[in-house]
Amino acid sequence: MKAPIRVAITGAAGQIGYNLLFRIANGDMLGREQPIILQLLDIPPAQQALRGVAMELEDCAFPMLQQVITTDDARVAFRDAEVVLMVGAKPRGKGMERKDLLEANGAIFSEQGRILDEVAARHVKVLVVGNPANTNALIAMKNAPGLDPRNFSAMMRLDHNRAITQVALKLFQPIQDIKKMVIWGNHSGTQYPDLSHAEVRGRKVIDILRQNGWEEWSEKEFIPTVQKRGAAVIEARGLSSAASAANAAIGHVHDWLLHSHHNDWVTMSVPSDGSYGIPEGVLYGFPVTCRNGNYQIVKDLPISELGRKHMMDSYNELLGERELVKHLLR
Ligand code: NAD
Ligand code: LMR
Repeated sequence: MKAPIRVAITGAAGQIGYNLLFRIANGDMLGREQPIILQLLDIPPAQQALRGVAMELEDCAFPMLQQVITTDDARVAFRDAEVVLMVGAKPRGKGMERKDLLEANGAIFSEQGRILDEVAARHVKVLVVGNPANTNALIAMKNAPGLDPRNFSAMMRLDHNRAITQVALKLFQPIQDIKKMVIWGNHSGTQYPDLSHAEVRGRKVIDILRQNGWEEWSEKEFIPTVQKRGAAVIEARGLSSAASAANAAIGHVHDWLLHSHHNDWVTMSVPSDGSYGIPEGVLYGFPVTCRNGNYQIVKDLPISELGRKHMMDSYNELLGERELVKHLLR
């Protein structure tokens, strides 16, 4: 039997938590043969609800779930954690932009970043889901100077999945045949869902669109639909996306730690390294391939002039967010 992996989840009593924990305990994230210990963090008023969730986890009798720890102390939750999903934060409501949450949520990530640095496993892999995810991840990373910055990431997998489905629906093609999608930039309205590299069974999506006289679909429908999908879900449900967000988080960590999709790349928001002219100092969505816990940014993709403009708009928004939280960056 393998040694158990300690997985810490913040905001575990929230809506995403409820959609995440049972699938992780079932092995969807780290595999059906991997024992796990869940270390669940939420704030004091949520402890009773959190205990209820822990009772339900017990009642599932998941074979690989060795232990469930519930706590309101981040030191307990993060101790020796090898995987940390930072979900705990306020979600936006109708009419808000994700960056409107910066003030309320930024402080959470500076404190929790410091505690991660003190008590988590040195090779811990961190995925930030709480919004605004890219800048919150930057805050956590900067407050954890003892950890490898490459082990911090923010979630853009939901945008990636949304984009794949929009193409599959438009072209009446199976989801699994849509490859080489990429969402550049920030998990926000400025993100750039880029169809120019996407393929269906080896054929360029843009060629198929052109052949059907749908040249304008990308700029006029696809990009705005994906950019605004989070708001559309909030409008429809009265609550922000939860099951699809949990599903994206599981896919992100699974591919990062175990392997990337066969013959494809995925989008992860990771510390910029100068690739594609995006300077260091922000977490930015890039296409990556993963192997054994390491990711590599896919290099040398051609970028159109319009694409470059979209990419820089999103970068500039991230710079603006960083400026607003500079007091939280060490
Ligand atoms: P929710 O309000 O249902 O749950 C949030 C939970 O976090 C609550 O239980 C709350 O008590 C807890 N929490 C608050 N402060 C905390 C702290 N300091 N430490 C630990 N826990 C704390 O919200 P949700 O729907 O689960 O969404 C959580 C976050 O995820 C929001 O910021 C939302 O905008 C974001 N989100 C991101 C994506 C993405 O693609 N990156 C997708 C969906 C939602
Ligand atoms: C989403 O994209 O669904 C989440 O980031 C929630 C939101 O505020 O849009």
